[in-house]
Amino acid sequence: MFVLGIETSCDETAASVVRDGREILSSIISSQIELHRPYGGVVPELASRDHLEKIGPIVDEALEQAKVQLADVDAVAVTQGPGLIGSLLVGVCYAKSLAYGAGKPIVGVNHIEGHFYSVVFENPPIEYPAMALIVSGGHTNLFYVPEEGQYKLVSRTRDDAAGEAFDKVSKMLGLGYPGGPVIEKLARAGDPKRVKFPIAKISDGKPDFSFSGLKTAVSRYVRESGLKPLVKGATPGKEILDLAAGVQDNIVRSLVKTMESQARDLRPKTLVVAGGVACNEALRSASKAAAVRLGVPIYFPSKHLSTDNAAMIAAAGTVKLLAGKHSGLEMTADITMRLQNIGGEEAAATKKPRYRL
Ligand code: KG4
Ligand code: ZN
Repeated sequence: MFVLGIETSCDETAASVVRDGREILSSIISSQIELHRPYGGVVPELASRDHLEKIGPIVDEALEQAKVQLADVDAVAVTQGPGLIGSLLVGVCYAKSLAYGAGKPIVGVNHIEGHFYSVVFENPPIEYPAMALIVSGGHTNLFYVPEEGQYKLVSRTRDDAAGEAFDKVSKMLGLGYPGGPVIEKLARAGDPKRVKFPIAKISDGKPDFSFSGLKTAVSRYVRESGLKPLVKGATPGKEILDLAAGVQDNIVRSLVKTMESQARDLRPKTLVVAGGVACNEALRSASKAAAVRLGVPIYFPSKHLSTDNAAMIAAAGTVKLLAGKHSGLEMTADITMRLQNIGGEEAAATKKPRYRL
């Protein structure tokens, strides 16, 4: 079964051909990082325009590299949401036209579910029940997955996503965008014990994450210590290195502590850590150590599959197609799409989305 995956939910235009949900025949990604860098974050209008320019050539390249004709593709899988509406619409409209023209089925995929399936290519099959920590620039969610396609939201962020926290702190310190990779690099040379930030506690006792307090604490530290943001091209001093290490340590400890305590209660057979922040080596090693303590295997995507890509969308789409689920051509981008379909948040998941185009 050949599935063509298309992903345009944020700032990567990506297309991929995946065989039988596990073998990547091609995975082409055009990143817009350079386009957004001067603004220190993604500019939605620029993002959709760039997707529009790139989507055709990227899909052609994915088919060409996979040595597969559109006629040989069994179905098209496309990210339906959540994400930026303009960006999502480019992928969804393109995928629908392609599928309609070629007479192929189409399936809409939740971007977060795509991140969950990013681990299937280079790991043994996921054993259920599983537990998945999905950490990216837009999302920080811990799911309990009792069986394939069933998601219970165990923890979520109350404010900023983990990747967003890296990005905002980086911007504050003049370190550039995206923040995660640069903070990780500087943290390697810093001392995480010199500037310690406390882990946020949620007052209603839920095991949720919160990272906006960290941003405020860093801003206060910068003000009180008189630390100057880095001037472009300058070499960061020890103070910035230590601060980067302290920030990374706080984010990693917060994520791993919750994942470990929830896994101890819910006893999954597999742990999955995915999403852009899963590139982070400190997070990987702390999660691996937790998995060893729990006696559970842990799967990560390889680094190029941790950030947004279309292979994960094709893999998630394949599972849906094999279960007999496709979307009709009335399917459209949905920025409020939720993944949780069991447990306490079910009512919210079935609520009418507020913005639907
Ligand atoms: O999954 P992704 O490409 O996009 C979203 O779906 O949001 O994740 C991008 C996020 C950014 O916030 C970026 O700073 C973060 O992932 N990131 C990292 C690292 N590489 C990327 N965070 C920490 N350490 C890294 N090495
Ligand atoms: Zn993502």
